[in-house]
Amino acid sequence: MATISTDQISFLVALIGADYVLYDTESLEKYSRDETEKLKFYPDVIVKPKTTNEVAAIMQFCNQHLIPVTPRGAGTGLSGGALATLGGVILSTERMNSIIEIDTRNMFVITEPGVITEDLMNAVKEKNLFYPPDPSSKGSCFIGGNIAENSGGPKAVKYGVVKDYVLNVELVLPTGEVIWTGANVIKNATGYNLTQLIVGSEGTLGIVTKIVLKLLPLPKVDLLMLVPFKNLNNASDAVSAIFNAGFTPSALELIEIEALKITSKLIGNHSVPVSDDIAAHLIIETDGNDKEVLMKEMETIAELMQQYNCEEIFFAEDANQKQELWKLRRRAAEAVKLEGYTIEEDTVVPRAELTKLIVGVKELGKQHGFKVVCYGHAGDGNLHIRINHPSIKNSYGSEEMINILKKLFELVKSLGGTISAEHGIGLIQKPYMDIFFNKTNLQIMRSIKKVFDPNNILNANKIFDIN
Ligand code: LAC
Ligand code: ZN
Repeated sequence: MATISTDQISFLVALIGADYVLYDTESLEKYSRDETEKLKFYPDVIVKPKTTNEVAAIMQFCNQHLIPVTPRGAGTGLSGGALATLGGVILSTERMNSIIEIDTRNMFVITEPGVITEDLMNAVKEKNLFYPPDPSSKGSCFIGGNIAENSGGPKAVKYGVVKDYVLNVELVLPTGEVIWTGANVIKNATGYNLTQLIVGSEGTLGIVTKIVLKLLPLPKVDLLMLVPFKNLNNASDAVSAIFNAGFTPSALELIEIEALKITSKLIGNHSVPVSDDIAAHLIIETDGNDKEVLMKEMETIAELMQQYNCEEIFFAEDANQKQELWKLRRRAAEAVKLEGYTIEEDTVVPRAELTKLIVGVKELGKQHGFKVVCYGHAGDGNLHIRINHPSIKNSYGSEEMINILKKLFELVKSLGGTISAEHGIGLIQKPYMDIFFNKTNLQIMRSIKKVFDPNNILNANKIFDIN
């Protein structure tokens, strides 16, 4: 659906240059998808501004002409937030890719949104500083996308998620006005917390053009082990036991054997043992500054795991083995998707309810004839559920799959959990919002959206419908 005229495209070209206004077939194809299911929506045009002023001018123009705008980072999202479902403009932040300043005295970094998360982590690491939130896609996702989704990742279990690090953002409103939301301080009780409202707002309230992130001292040591279990429920029961025994690992991940085998095949794993008679593994990492203390901690956790009937534990011995083990976990989503597990959920329940969630999910799979594989951030109670249905490849647009997922979310709700821990609602989780929120909740959210975006041009059609 063309929602933009050739004259309007010419205006955008005059604004930011022909090289950065794309509407050739190949570009439209490339920007029609992200990592969500097997979905495609074509924009009319892609714009790639370099500066805040350019973003502001684009927004002002689109607002005036009621042209839909979909902001986009690296396109690694899993809820369809960057899909141009209404056509119009895709505003890519890929050219806004500078780290502006690393303030080592005050321990914060000021960055543009198009910086790859891992590049940012490495840049601050060189100064002995630590930015912990590490989504699986950290090697390709943008920090701006992480802000939009309030991303998590394995380290969230000890260090928290993106929102815990964002001090302040520069925001271009849909009208083209520009504000800073807070201050570069770690305590702030000054008025409504607009910074935290923007984090996780999925590009529906404004476009973040600069970000100030809190940094921590870099931990000097980390240790990593892989703990196999023949029984999936033993593995998930063991998760809570670790915390109840007084430990907070820097990562506590669960991965079912099917996902591990598929990923192992994809990446050509050489050093991590993956055997057939295992049901699931826990990946446990601890970090800190004192190796002796950490070794002791790992030994005690290992002993505790024996009580849950674990099999022989594999300790990653060097940086290479650690890297390989992490690669197996981080590339699970991509690997299982290639194998036909195209639908991914991002459920989260209170940690001690994890086993009930896993049992329920397996039962649902049996009832409805699909394969399901689970992995995720068990220490957070955050389970990624991947579904391989013989005929339904997208949840979006499938009444049958929507009804199945409604059952899943009813279970999640009964366990005290919610829809998404770190991927956002975007497009594909919209049908389930009213399971968790009543009319008043949703009306408040709609009212907030109206204040920021009166003409509903910015990532409209995401999170909830406006009417
Ligand atoms: C992961 C992504 C999919 O944890 O969130 O692998
Ligand atoms: Zn995850």
